[in-house]
Amino acid sequence: MNISIIGSGRVGSSVALNCCMRELGDVLLLDIVEGLPQGESMDINHQLAELGNDCHVKGSNDYQDMKKSDFVVIVAGIGRKPGMTRMDLLKTNAGIVKDVCNKVRTYSPESIVIVVTNPLDPLTYLALKIINSDKGKVMGMGGMLDLSRFKEYISSTTRMSRSSIQAMVIGEHGENMLPLVRFSSISGIPLSSFINNVQSSEFVTKTRNVAAEVISLKGATVYAPGNAVSAMIDAISRNRRKILPVSAFLEGEYGYSNVCLGVPCVLGSNGIEKIIELDLNQEEKEMLTNGVESVKTAIRELPI
Ligand code: NAI
Repeated sequence: MNISIIGSGRVGSSVALNCCMRELGDVLLLDIVEGLPQGESMDINHQLAELGNDCHVKGSNDYQDMKKSDFVVIVAGIGRKPGMTRMDLLKTNAGIVKDVCNKVRTYSPESIVIVVTNPLDPLTYLALKIINSDKGKVMGMGGMLDLSRFKEYISSTTRMSRSSIQAMVIGEHGENMLPLVRFSSISGIPLSSFINNVQSSEFVTKTRNVAAEVISLKGATVYAPGNAVSAMIDAISRNRRKILPVSAFLEGEYGYSNVCLGVPCVLGSNGIEKIIELDLNQEEKEMLTNGVESVKTAIRELPI
């Protein structure tokens, strides 16, 4: 597989390393800053050489190098500073993502596109509209990262192995994300058997807020997002048909249309092969609706 990563900053370079560690293919790291992608690629190739891993990373400032990519990961743009929400990035990052998507449409229109730049759901929508590709081939990574945080709280609170946890987080990748305690389990045993109601609502709040905590401590989230993107590419490129939370374009699912939002999706060689509709209760539906309204408000401000 040929994987092009547009934006070679903290998250872009982590995506590159994680893709190589999973041996998903060769990686192109692209950035507007001269020297940055070249330096990152050298550093990663040095690690891979010692490991005997033959995936190759190339750094470039030339968009023509992304021709014939199987995957394009869009992670160019500014990140949050302490105290900012993801929506505060909308204006600046919409301009950057629009520019990048025009390049994708020119050089690699057939590729599967994974948007990472925040605010994730509105910018996934923007990418879909500009690239004008099949709706199953343009998606956003947000829920996968929220899920990894949710799993960590479940494991540390219950003191059960991380490998035994199945869970799901849907909704907006932002203030209205929806960690689903009711659809989570430890080895198939409902999570509610292990935790009380207070812990349950704590999980939800902590999962929602922990990214801001990491940003205030170290400036950015890096390793977990890199892994989350590579897990999606793994599921698609190896046709695993895994059910993962992905920001997808809705056409009536969950009662909403013309919006991108995190929902459980079957990922296989065609990208998003199916959206799974969960039977949500009233409280869950309300949180999902809040997310839809927030994303739709942002979509109205996009430069489309
Ligand atoms: P960073 O500042 O370390 O890297 C961003 C890179 O994008 C910079 O190297 C910059 O030169 C480059 N860039 C800007 N405009 C470009 C263009 N037109 N073409 C190519 N490259 C361009 O930022 P970081 O920490 O890597 O975050 C990147 C984005 O990812 C942010 O918007 C952040 O909020 C988002 N993010 C999203 C996550 C998610 O779960 N969806 C998780 C973590 C970060």
